[in-house]
Parts: sequence; C-alpha cells; structure tokens
Amino acid sequence: MGIKYFEEEKVFKLDSKGVSYVIALVDEEQFVGHAYFGKKLSDHHVRHLMRLNEGPLVPSKNNRDRAAFGDAFPFEYSTHGVGDFRESCLKVRTSRGHEACSLVYVSHKIYTGKPALAGLPATFGKEDECSTLELTCIDPVLKLEVTLVYSVFEDNDAITRSVRIKNTAKEDIFLEKALSACLQLDGLDYDYITLHGSWARERHIDRRPLSHGKHSASSLRGESSHQDQPFIALTTPSATQDFGEVYAMNFVYSGNFLAQAEGCQFDTTRVVMGINPENFCWKLASGDEFICPEVAMVYSDAGLGKMTRTFHDLYRNHLIRGEYKDKKRPILINNWEATYFDFNTDKLLAIAKEASSLGIEMLVMDDGWFGRRSDDNSSLGDWQVNEEKLSGGLSHLVEEVNKLGMKFGIWFEPEMVSPDSDLYRAHPDWAIQIPDRTATLCRNQYVLDISRKEVRDTVYNMIKSVLSSANIEYVKWDMNRPLCDLGSFALDAEHQGELSHRYMLGVYELQERLISDFPHLLLENCSGGGARFDAGMLYYSPQIWCSDDTDAIERLSIQEGTSLIYPLCSMGAHVSDCPNHTVGRRTPFSTRGHVALAGTFGYELDVTRIPAEDRGMIPSQVAMYHKYNDLVRTGDYYRIANYSENHQYDCWEVAAKDGSEILITYVEVLRRANFKTRTLRLKGLDPNAVYENEETKEQFTGDVLMYGGVQSPETWGDFSSRLMHFIKISK
Ligand code: DGJ
Repeated sequence: MGIKYFEEEKVFKLDSKGVSYVIALVDEEQFVGHAYFGKKLSDHHVRHLMRLNEGPLVPSKNNRDRAAFGDAFPFEYSTHGVGDFRESCLKVRTSRGHEACSLVYVSHKIYTGKPALAGLPATFGKEDECSTLELTCIDPVLKLEVTLVYSVFEDNDAITRSVRIKNTAKEDIFLEKALSACLQLDGLDYDYITLHGSWARERHIDRRPLSHGKHSASSLRGESSHQDQPFIALTTPSATQDFGEVYAMNFVYSGNFLAQAEGCQFDTTRVVMGINPENFCWKLASGDEFICPEVAMVYSDAGLGKMTRTFHDLYRNHLIRGEYKDKKRPILINNWEATYFDFNTDKLLAIAKEASSLGIEMLVMDDGWFGRRSDDNSSLGDWQVNEEKLSGGLSHLVEEVNKLGMKFGIWFEPEMVSPDSDLYRAHPDWAIQIPDRTATLCRNQYVLDISRKEVRDTVYNMIKSVLSSANIEYVKWDMNRPLCDLGSFALDAEHQGELSHRYMLGVYELQERLISDFPHLLLENCSGGGARFDAGMLYYSPQIWCSDDTDAIERLSIQEGTSLIYPLCSMGAHVSDCPNHTVGRRTPFSTRGHVALAGTFGYELDVTRIPAEDRGMIPSQVAMYHKYNDLVRTGDYYRIANYSENHQYDCWEVAAKDGSEILITYVEVLRRANFKTRTLRLKGLDPNAVYENEETKEQFTGDVLMYGGVQSPETWGDFSSRLMHFIKISK
C-alpha cells in the first residue's frame, strides 16, 4: 500500500515508486497542512517537514493572531473568509449571505483501489495498482463536510486529487468556488509554464519566470479552449528536458477552468486548479453533494521530459479506455480538406476507391451529409441523411466503402443547432440564451442546452438511429463554437450559475452513452480543431483532433506543446495537400508523413487529385505507419531539439520501453549553408547494448549514442525531414 498514516506524528505519507507527498495535521484544531511533495523520502521523522516554527508564522493556538496564521499556513485545501487572504479553493455563501469557511480534520480512510467520480472522467486503477486516502474535514459552523481524495499508483509517479463537498446542514449553501486542488511550494524561484494559443495554433509552450502576484491560465468558453490549456507547471529556473525539478498539474475536465500560481508575501507559492469560479455558483441543498473534477499532479526530479513520460504513462494506462486503448488505429482518409461541403456519393466513393488501392483503411465523411447542409449556415440538429447528396442513402455508401475493404466513419456536431434547422424551429428554447437578449451567433450556430435531459435524449436518439442504420465504425464528435449568453430555460435563478458545469456533465453523459451502446466504435473528439484537447475528453475518446492547422511546420509547435502532456497515440494528425489550406506553405510530402507519424496518422486530401508523385508515396507511408506505430504508440517520448526554441530544426525520439529500438524524427526547417553537421544526443537507451542504424548498418553502443551523439542525417532544402531507426542487436 502506497499510503501510510503515522498516528503519533499525525502525518499522512503517500508514496509512489519515486515520489512522496506528505500531509500533516496541525494543533488541537487539526488543520490539514501540506508538508512535502517531491522525490521519495524514507519514513523517518517526516513530521519536521511541516515547518510551523519558522518566522513569521504564528501558531494557530495563539488566537490573538489567528489571521496571521491563516495567511501563512500551507493549507492542503484553502478556504475563503477567515484570514487566509491568498487564493482560496473553496468559497461558500450561506442563505444569510455570509461568506466564510474554515476546515478541520475529522476522520480518514485509506484503502486499495480508486473510486470512480460519478458522472465525471477520472483516472482508474485496479486494487493492486493504486491506493486512496480520503481525508474528511468539516466546517463545524456550516456543517459542511469536505472530503479530500488522493490516489497514488504503483506503476506511475502521478498523484490524483479530487474533492467531495457535502451539505449536512438543514439550510442551503451556495458554492461560489469549488476548486479541486491546492499545492503549497516553498520559495517562488520558479519558471511558470503554460500552453497558450488560438485557433490553428493551439498549445504553444509559454515559459516565463514566476513573480509575486497571481499568474493564471483559464477558460470561460465552456470548453478547455484553443487559447489556454488546463495545465500548469512550475520548474526550477534552469530546468531543461533532462534536468531540474518540475511540479505540474493537469485537470481531467473539459470545461471552464482556472490554473493559477500565486507568488505570496513570504516568497512561497500557492498553485490552485479547478472549475473557473467565474460563471459558477452551485446551490447545495441540505443533503446534497458536489464532486470537484480530478487533478493529476506530477513531480519530476529529472526535467520536463520525465514529467511528460509520467503523464503519457498515466493517461495510456489509467485514463484512456475501450477497444482501441492499446490498439493500432485504422489509417483514415477524411474528406474535409478534400471537398469541404461539396461532395456526393460518387465523389466519396472515388476517393475511397483510390485510397483503398493505396492501403488506406477507413473513409471518414465529415461535415455536410445531413439535413440541407451545403455550407455552415444550416441544419445542425437535423441529423438525418441528405439523400439528395448521398443518393442511395447512407447504408448504400457504407456498403460500397466496405466492399473496398475499408471501414467507414462519420462526423457529428451533437451539441449545436443552426437557427435554420427543423430542430430549432420546433424548440427555440433549447438553445442556450438569456431571455430578452439577442443570443450571440458564432459560425451562424447556437449551442444546445445539453444540461437538459430531453435535449440530450432527442439528439442522442437521432445519432443512434444513424449509427444503427449502417456499419459505422468511427465517429468524429466536433464542437465548433464556445458557450456564451449563459442562460437555461430549465433552470431557476438560484441554479443559473450551474449551467456551464451541468453542460459538461451532459456532454460526458452523452459520450458515455455512445461508447456503451457502441463499444466497438472508435471515437475521436474535436473542437473546431483542438479546442477540447484535454484529459477529460481522453476518458471517452482515445484520440482527439489536434488542430485544424495541418501544415507540417506549424504542427511542430502544436504537437510539441500537446505532447508535453498527452501521449502521441492520442494526437489526431493527418497528411494534407499543398499549398496548405491554412498557411499556404508547400512542404515535401515525405515531411508531412513524418510529422503525422508522431500522431494517429491519416490523410486529409483528395487522393484522386493530388500530384501523382505524392500519390505514389502513399503506399510507402502506409508501410511506414504499420512498421513504426506500435513503437510510437507505446514507447517513451524524448524531445531532442525544438524548432520553436532554435528556429532552425526539430528532433524527437521514441524509445521502446524495453530499449530494443528507437525511432528518431529529424526536421530541417530552414536549411543553412556551410554549417557544421549537428550532433544529436539520443536518450533512453541501454548504455551497454549495441545498436544498429537500420539504414546505414553502422553499429554503436548506447553510451556512444547518448553521451557522444550521432550526426544529424543529410537533408536538402527547407522543410526536409528524415527518420533514423536504431535496433538493439546485442546486450
Ligand atoms: C472543425 C474541424 O476541426 C474540422 O476538421 C472539420 O470537421 C470542420 N469543423 C467541419 O465543420
């Protein structure tokens, strides 16, 4: 069991294979304090890590200066209104209008396994894979019961946290803020890393020194968003891929969030993460319970690379579910960039026929197959096949595609409704909107009030009937606008502040229904590109569309930021046509293939119209995918060089867990004249084993490749790329 309670010292110690997390109870009141998070410790006298007697801290026993204590004590879960003036995790309002809360320990439970979070995505593990601590606290005045839930995994250095808040009083209570995790760090000499972006340039790495005050990433868009990612990392200032300490938090949630680091008055740092308190107020009636979504916390003593690999393993082993969790995904061809809305059965079959002859395994029919949709102005919500476009109907199309030996996939945008749709005409009040205020359109569409069961049922039944009508083996679930004008006709004034979270719970319920009813379906989430690439979505779909920007060079930064947290097997990545539809750049077809190989791999082009030379390369790219995908999907990912930092070249590596092979991808973004060949120091090898370069047949020991390095491969021209594959041939 990775969790111990030392009764005499009043200390809880959570140990994974390389990390310890220590919590201590303090003074008669039994405040719950954070003592340590870092490299694994022995059990000897860890209580002294709960440093109470250093200036200017005033012990809580001294009621005369209780506020001074409250404002300096490293609370495990901070509360509002009783003297801790730093960022709180919990803020409540009573029915009499008071806003104050103070939590003290009452009991705890330690057990093997990990509880599911009702209605929410969460990491999971069997009894022999993880253990859990539940620390129950109360505010004796409010009779509010708050249970802090921590789990540790045997095979992974992540610690997960969530919180249950129960109103055991007779009166209602309003939760104005209910974050999921708080972490107290000594000092504030850290770099602060977030992933920032916009549509078509999602999740670029943003790093700067932390200073006093509050620094945050957040979303109020009802989705995790293109702009910010529910992730935050604090590193020692000199931390690199391989050296330095990293403390990271990632939210297993897909809606509004706050991730914040606060440099406090005594040069300590408080990091918090949870549902964004703006646009949030939850009425907790007597007896009700609220569950805060999960946060995954990772500590690394060996730089960002180790943090990345810890997240990758956590998500591959304990978050992604279903038939495709550990399976190679079919190589798909999606018709979006090939045809946009301009397609019919013949055009799709022509693409499928050519694609199947080249080894592509699945045709995905994107937006435009339903209602009267011929552009983005109508028909969302009318999920019936447009038989004018698809003559012979959907089942005919799917049968013909299947006859070619290909699978068939389809696009939906279930959460949306067009003003010009039968669904909206029948139920205008099903759109999220505020009475008397003109609802804001975005891509000429409204958001359905998915918090309402009747709305979910209606949409789901339409989707289910389409999916049951033919042999459909893949669904792309899109969401092309953020939420605003927050108002639900089904909620009274006291509950309107619950809409954003209820909406997310509704989306999760719908996706759970979908994958339970269609257990063999491969689900890919998407949100106008990558606005919902988050750990919450990964619980439902093993892959997520990374970005609408399919340009291989733009993708270097997007995929690098995404893979900082999320495994390569989850990153939707396609080879598309040139000039690229987003940036107009021309890159070699081979480079597009190498960059897409670092994700799920597929095509997004009209294979009947691309240059013959490109088409001719598809069979070898297909073979490349089949050769390397097991390694890419399951291996350890290492970043060797970042184009976003050096502005010239990019290089990453995937090493098999057993050290038996490694694949290096090298992209020469801008070719320079008359420069010395670069040395690439490889990582994650067995230093004593002999490795052979599959292409050149040169042999090296692992130590030479790692500590001395290998010469970068020959390339010619901008945007050129090469793979290098090393196979272990001896011990
Ligand atoms: C946004 C997605 O990211 C695209 O791939 C495509 O499916 C369009 N939506 C369709 O409207």
